[in-house]
Amino acid sequence: MARHSLLVGFGGFLPDRVVTNVELASQLDTSDEWIRARTGIACRHVAGPHDTATSMGAEAASRALSYAGLSASDIDVILVATATPDQAFPATAVRIQAEIGMISGFGYDISSACSGFVFALATADSLIRSHQANRVLVIGSEVYSRILDWSDRGTCVLFGDGAGAVILEASESDDHRGILSTHLHSDGRLRDLLYVDGAVGQPEKSGKLRMSGRDVFRHAVEKLSSSVDEVLSSCGLTRDHIDWLVPHQANIRIIEAVAKKLALPADRVVITVDRHANTSAASIPLALDEAVRDGRIRQGELVLMEALGGGLTWGTALARL
Ligand code: ACO
Repeated sequence: MARHSLLVGFGGFLPDRVVTNVELASQLDTSDEWIRARTGIACRHVAGPHDTATSMGAEAASRALSYAGLSASDIDVILVATATPDQAFPATAVRIQAEIGMISGFGYDISSACSGFVFALATADSLIRSHQANRVLVIGSEVYSRILDWSDRGTCVLFGDGAGAVILEASESDDHRGILSTHLHSDGRLRDLLYVDGAVGQPEKSGKLRMSGRDVFRHAVEKLSSSVDEVLSSCGLTRDHIDWLVPHQANIRIIEAVAKKLALPADRVVITVDRHANTSAASIPLALDEAVRDGRIRQGELVLMEALGGGLTWGTALARL
């Protein structure tokens, strides 16, 4: 079989502090009932003063290394998907490189908002297929609590903080496992539906997340449904072949719409949005880590990952674990 990438390590990290809907409702004009009914979210983890994209990403990476029985010196590349880096530069990836004691190889960040993990996974797979790397650490790490407008009930109730990591490893064996296909998209005409207002290049702006929730919702359901058709037909598979949906965790109603399109029962969909809320690029690797460690997803099963986020960007990855 041609050179391909196996998923061999999984790790996750969530900050200690849990903020419930009830706590938010004590500070904002919202309610536990509204948030649960519209989003499926009950609570989220929020970073403490010392938690950063680097510290959380390094912890998730260390856990993925220990799952795989590897050390930092076995890794060639670190890719970090984040919209909330500690600094404009150097990249969070090189900060994590130093943190975990990796002194060779290289690292860089990928900026695709909530789709970032799928974009990073596709990039890692390409680096392996083109013989530029044998093992790649792919990390999503986000502290959206620091870019939220905590007085805007339309956005601040939706997000949480955390980090997730996977390790991809080159294989030439004929086992039909690993990343089978990835598909990436963006449409910059839709950039104003979901964005951060300012950054280091525009310091006069607020630096807070802004969103047209209803429009993003509509695009997410439409684009993710057609992405599912795209990935299945590219691999010559049908929806009956899918064992698990591990979606980006934005809103339970978006996840249910995609699961319906796949005719997947609820117990074949990995859900963390109820406890983590939307952790952006961290949400898929956090969900994968949970479902692999608790024994739900087993070796040989076919997993569909999908995400949509600011850009708009969206993508899918199909992998046989
Ligand atoms: N509590 C109470 N009421 C609220 C809240 C809140 N937290 N937020 C909004 N409302 C009100 C609105 O003001 C509005 O009131 P009005 O009718 O008096 O004007 C009413 O609720 C309905 O608002 P809508 O925006 O129409 O509510 P909707 O059912 O669309 O749900 C939501 C809003 C949850 C944001 C939904 O549109 C959504 O999930 N969109 C996707 C956005 C998303 O997930 N973004 C994350 C990044 S992108 C991604 O990851 C896919």
